[in-house]
Amino acid sequence: MGEARRDMQRVKHFLDYDGYTAREINKILKAALLFRKRGYPASKPLRNKVVALIFQKPSTRTRVSFQSAIARLGGDSMYLGWSELQLGRGEPVSDTSRVLARYVDAVVARVFQHSMVEELAAHSAVPVINALSDKHHPCQALADIMTVMQYSKKPSRSKIAFVGDGNNVCNSLIQICGLLGLRLSVATPPSYKPDSETVSKALKWAEESGAEITLTDDPAEAVAEADFVYTDVFVSMGQEEEREKKLREFLPKYQVNAELMKHAKPDAKFMHCMPMHLGEEVTANVAYGPSSIIYDQAENRMHTEAALLLFLMGRLR
Ligand code: CP
Ligand code: NVA
Repeated sequence: MGEARRDMQRVKHFLDYDGYTAREINKILKAALLFRKRGYPASKPLRNKVVALIFQKPSTRTRVSFQSAIARLGGDSMYLGWSELQLGRGEPVSDTSRVLARYVDAVVARVFQHSMVEELAAHSAVPVINALSDKHHPCQALADIMTVMQYSKKPSRSKIAFVGDGNNVCNSLIQICGLLGLRLSVATPPSYKPDSETVSKALKWAEESGAEITLTDDPAEAVAEADFVYTDVFVSMGQEEEREKKLREFLPKYQVNAELMKHAKPDAKFMHCMPMHLGEEVTANVAYGPSSIIYDQAENRMHTEAALLLFLMGRLR
């Protein structure tokens, strides 16, 4: 077996939460909380490390938070738009991946189809991190739970409600809650439920972790007595053609507004991965109201990604 192939088998990727333990994820979250509180290590633990960011779709938070985290840890990063690479002209993903691994120490990739990030990982001798696919957004979920930990004295007792589309963000939230033993109630329209395979796996993990995960089509039921109310856009990137159909399906029932928030605890916090489509999944008075913690949530992307990179490169103590 060649050395590169051996490396490929050893390397740990972050495509979703499958294959991770609660202990590993808690270690990342703990480091992220410390970065937020105390700043980044003066030892610059990513010195001499280079990370490539390949993006097939636009991004503000993911791109900038990764690049900023890498810079703060002493590493270097490069942003590569999909169409600027030979990938855009049809070079196989496998060749791109094998070649990139000769130049860089990790690859962060935002793609349309989840199978694309799987293919990158299958041929990569360095860690591949899913920076959003149609199925999962695991980096977002790390920041989401870090934010819950920041605001809750007892995260495992807090109820998180997700209302809206059973999409990438929702799937990753289900996974991380299942793994860490958290309480999550999800309300989606019956035709936009989260991925069934993801849900059944998370429910298995829940048997061990003690997580309570419930699915319903009733937003008021999901939000009842919740400590955190979370939503994401109804129309994700790449779904623009379905816009009218989806809005008909989701509105007005699944909008997070002041009326729906009344079902939650009086001090419940509002969360959103951003960007938001105001007036669709959330009203402006909730998004920008006193219960909103969306900017802390966005900031936490940087701290969790810094911790994740160190973990994947074996540099997290
Ligand atoms: N939440 C999130 O992933 O935002 P961006 O699309 O701006 O990266
Ligand atoms: N579900 C959204 C998340 C954006 C961060 C999308 O895929 O566009």
